[in-house]
Amino acid sequence: MNARQSGDFPATDARLAYTPDIARSTAPIYERVRSVIPEIEWPVHAPYVAAINELKRKRKAIILAHNYQTPEIFHGVADLTGDSLALARQAADTSAQVIVLCGVHFMAETAKLINPEKTVLIPDLEAGCSLAASITADDVRLLRERYPGAPVVSYVNTSAAVKAESDICCTSANALEVVESLGTGRVIFLPDEYLGRYIASQTNVEVILWRGRCEVHERFTADELRVFRRQYPGVEILAHPECPPDVLAEADFVGSTSGMIRHVGENRPRRVVMVTECSMSDNVAVEYPDVEFVRPCNLCPHMKRITLPKILHSLETMTYRVEIEPDVAGRARQAVERMLAVGKKADGRGIA
Ligand code: 13P
Ligand code: SF4
Repeated sequence: MNARQSGDFPATDARLAYTPDIARSTAPIYERVRSVIPEIEWPVHAPYVAAINELKRKRKAIILAHNYQTPEIFHGVADLTGDSLALARQAADTSAQVIVLCGVHFMAETAKLINPEKTVLIPDLEAGCSLAASITADDVRLLRERYPGAPVVSYVNTSAAVKAESDICCTSANALEVVESLGTGRVIFLPDEYLGRYIASQTNVEVILWRGRCEVHERFTADELRVFRRQYPGVEILAHPECPPDVLAEADFVGSTSGMIRHVGENRPRRVVMVTECSMSDNVAVEYPDVEFVRPCNLCPHMKRITLPKILHSLETMTYRVEIEPDVAGRARQAVERMLAVGKKADGRGIA
């Protein structure tokens, strides 16, 4: 099934034909991604890539894409890419008036919190996250009652309403620095139980956990990793800290999505497996053709809601605008800004 047949937005527009002009103008992009996108698929993507790149210039928009976006988005139309922390930092630094966030809803909300005066668009409002859905603002208030005095550290994979009840946010890249920056003997860490357990294993701070899980990473098993080691001798195993503890114990490196990418760039393992969402290996393989990627495929259905036709629709109609109720936004912004301030002081430390 190709993007036009997928039923998102039928291509009746003549601009979306694969003409010789489109083939020529998109050829350099295709050259980059040819190892991960079959030639037969390019005529489907190319007209969207060309139309999006033209329209984004007209709209003076910038496209931010998470590392889990598909290669035609990641390499075809994104201006800036990265993990949740990098996307938040880039959103804070950009001078563009319109940000199209190709990722999930909490990422677009974070960009809007940092840029209240800018237009932040997400191509599909239903792009959620099982972690963000696992906890409400009421739950956080109850946790505070149960553990008086313990500061609340919220993973960015939460709604703005939950961030508004939190002292500070963190991402998988800076969670350890954030927890230790508070100078307290214990913290409430939410909602990712596994990331929280991993941080607890790295610090003397007592970590009070919530039982949220990432529906993608919780599916990996330590047995699966042992099979990779047997089947692919010499393979280096990199895992995201949202994986279960026994999976992390089996890994050679634990880090955020960008931490894993950096690790591959700096160490150039001969063979590697990234124990995380499926598209990331495709995106990184484009950069490092000398590295063999073993590719287990656990897809994030929320990330995969973002497609080229929806990005084009978003730019054409300037939808879907992310709006946050002002009282919630003010308090949530403080939690995000505190996190960014810790990041500035402690760059380079932490899980990766
Ligand atoms: P990163 O911040 O490591 O990119 O993780 C985001 C995420 O949603 C992982 O599942
Ligand atoms: Fe949320 Fe997991 Fe998808 Fe990341 S991979 S957006 S944590 S459901």
